[in-house]
Amino acid sequence: MWASRWYHRLIMGENKFVIVGGNPLRGEVRVGGAKNSVLKLMAASLLTPEECLIHNVPRITDVKIMVEVLRRLGAGVTWEGSSLRVCAGEFTSREAPYQLVRRMRASIIVLGPLVARWGEASVAIPGGCNIGSRKIDMHLKGLAELGAEISTEHGYVHARAARLKGTHIVLDFPSVGATENLIMAAVGAEGRTVIENAAREPEIQDLAAFLASMGAEVEGAGTPVITVTGPCDLKGTEHTAIGDRIEAGTLAVAAAVAGGEVALAGVDPRHLGLPLEKLREVGVEVEEAEGRLLVRGGGEYRSVDLATLPFPGFPTDLQPQIMVLLSLAGGTSVITENVFESRFMFVDELNRMGCDISIEGHHAIVRGVGALSGAEVCAPDLRAGAALVLAGLAAEGETHLLDVYHVDRGYENLEAKLSSLGADITRVGVEEEPIL
Ligand code: UD1
Repeated sequence: MWASRWYHRLIMGENKFVIVGGNPLRGEVRVGGAKNSVLKLMAASLLTPEECLIHNVPRITDVKIMVEVLRRLGAGVTWEGSSLRVCAGEFTSREAPYQLVRRMRASIIVLGPLVARWGEASVAIPGGCNIGSRKIDMHLKGLAELGAEISTEHGYVHARAARLKGTHIVLDFPSVGATENLIMAAVGAEGRTVIENAAREPEIQDLAAFLASMGAEVEGAGTPVITVTGPCDLKGTEHTAIGDRIEAGTLAVAAAVAGGEVALAGVDPRHLGLPLEKLREVGVEVEEAEGRLLVRGGGEYRSVDLATLPFPGFPTDLQPQIMVLLSLAGGTSVITENVFESRFMFVDELNRMGCDISIEGHHAIVRGVGALSGAEVCAPDLRAGAALVLAGLAAEGETHLLDVYHVDRGYENLEAKLSSLGADITRVGVEEEPIL
């Protein structure tokens, strides 16, 4: 973590958000393309020597790191406004190095496409992170079942296979990344692959649509059983990524905690089924239309209990944000985190802002408090950072959020979007006093 912090300071300078709470939010914003979809579409572009054009790509740090990963492999990647043109005609390397993988664990997603197309790949093993240990055993077990020879040494996983063979895979847990890696590997495998207990997230459906437009035979995406028939001779394609449901959910909670009325464009409300239900149970008014949402906040809020689960369950990526809202509700709520083992590390920061949250195992007991008070706090990870921004919008006085590079990993200009709605939030450079 320290190395990564140093890197960001060196390249981007140290930034913080200064937020003066209390302004209601009004107006309309457009949500960007889904981070968790675009990263996989970029990896899938490695499956063809032809050009792929991906639209609705957010300029966030994680996407920039994936651009770097693809370029290291020898692919040509160019930005055209909010679109990315990727051409993986030739590969100069089959290796995703640790310097890049340690900055973004999702880089492991290039493993499946590289083995499918080139029969070999080396990817640095991603370490743990601030929300849990992030294992990749299911990715590797599935690849081995497809016939790849897997070995790990010197911190790298190596996969080799002259030709992958279609097979029947049952995942222990509907892992998003493992499902995606195995779909992409199976596209290059001989015959039929069935993946059972597959993840059903909308981003997986977007990946399947992208692959289908390249000529792949993928059926069942969005259900727990996905069938891929290969090998497919994939062509270049042009595709628009789905809107980011987590960014939309974050902005919806922003409207709820700050009060006011916000319209969100560029998101499919069906991707946010349970979160919108929970917002309504709390007392937030939500209207759904095609490709947009209207959120009215500011009334009296009620406590609710919720548990994170794979889609269509409540997304773990919105758990920290809704915790801020539940802190402002009357009564006590219980949040159960079932997806990541250490996803409550930000709670101490929220408590410094006046929240009353205690942790018992994988449950957070959230006691409603009348008001929050601005404080100096630190973003420990991406979604927790977003939650602390929301707490700042609702708090009395000034909040200074440090380590905003975490937030920049997944939100494009979050402060500009919130400012356009009337929030008082600015990004400023930080000069830290040296410790002698
Ligand atoms: C993706 C999302 C992330 C989201 C998560 C769950 C991307 C880039 N990231 O992460 O934002 O929070 O889905 O919706 O799309 N696991 C194993 N072994 C494996 C794989 C996973 O034990 O081989 C465990 C993980 O440690 C974790 C759980 O399964 O506890 C869920 O992980 P997974 O669904 O794979 O999440 P990611 O794909 O890493």
